[in-house]
Amino acid sequence: GAGGHIEDVDFSFEGPFGTFDQNQLQRGLKVYTQVCAACHGMKYVPLRTLGDDGGPHLPMDQVRAYSEQFEVFDEELDDFRPAKPTDHFPESMMETAPDLSLMAKARAGFHGPQGTGLAQLFKGMGGPEYIYSLLTGYTGEEKFEAGTAFYENTAFPGGWIAMAPPLYGEDVEFDDGHANTVESQSEDVAAFLMWAAEPKMMARQQAGLTGVIFLTVLTVLLYLTNKRIWAPIK
Ligand code: HEM
Repeated sequence: GAGGHIEDVDFSFEGPFGTFDQNQLQRGLKVYTQVCAACHGMKYVPLRTLGDDGGPHLPMDQVRAYSEQFEVFDEELDDFRPAKPTDHFPESMMETAPDLSLMAKARAGFHGPQGTGLAQLFKGMGGPEYIYSLLTGYTGEEKFEAGTAFYENTAFPGGWIAMAPPLYGEDVEFDDGHANTVESQSEDVAAFLMWAAEPKMMARQQAGLTGVIFLTVLTVLLYLTNKRIWAPIK
């Protein structure tokens, strides 16, 4: 296959009133931590943001406990120590696995038609849809080239990716018994990576909407003012 097949997912954070789903972000964090972090890193994301309102919103003691599972090198101590919330997520463990901090914004799921990019106006950039489609897009076909294994994938450009299928279903267990199929876990981790790449999306959407409403009101007022000013002359 040639890749490039993207599924549209109805994420909670889409549209001008969209918000991140806190429970989904917590599930996505678990998938990221237990599966993806074996190879990938997120070196631009500070651990403390896991406690932020509008994000996974973990209680501070949990953010501290989560941080402490990582070892970081402290220049002042000249030694390794457990990470603190003020440190960042570790970088990728595997050299060929790209950092995922900004991946949800680095990839676009939707393009066209005819190179206009109009689809993005209606469906969004499609970064998280691309990640979802990548994780759910393995066909099971495998090939070896120049000593490297490639896996057929319906989303990855070119159709063959060097990342083995990371999810098989029931890879993580959720405390509340939430579904852990490949599709469900993929959606959760895609949402989590969208939050990681754009933690202030909700504030941005809100500011945009406020701006549009403000400009609409201003337009009406200026129209009426204009009518009144010119009324005696017309
Ligand atoms: C590439 C996500 C788990 C190894 C990628 C890419 C994404 C991604 C979005 C970039 C694809 C692109 O360039 O468009 C994830 C997620 C994971 C996960 C969300 C967990 C669910 C893993 C694991 C490994 C791994 C466990 C190692 C065993 C790689 C490698 C690449 C890659 C080597 C580069 C592939 C290439 O360019 O051909 N991953 N990954 N990933 N990942 Fe993962």
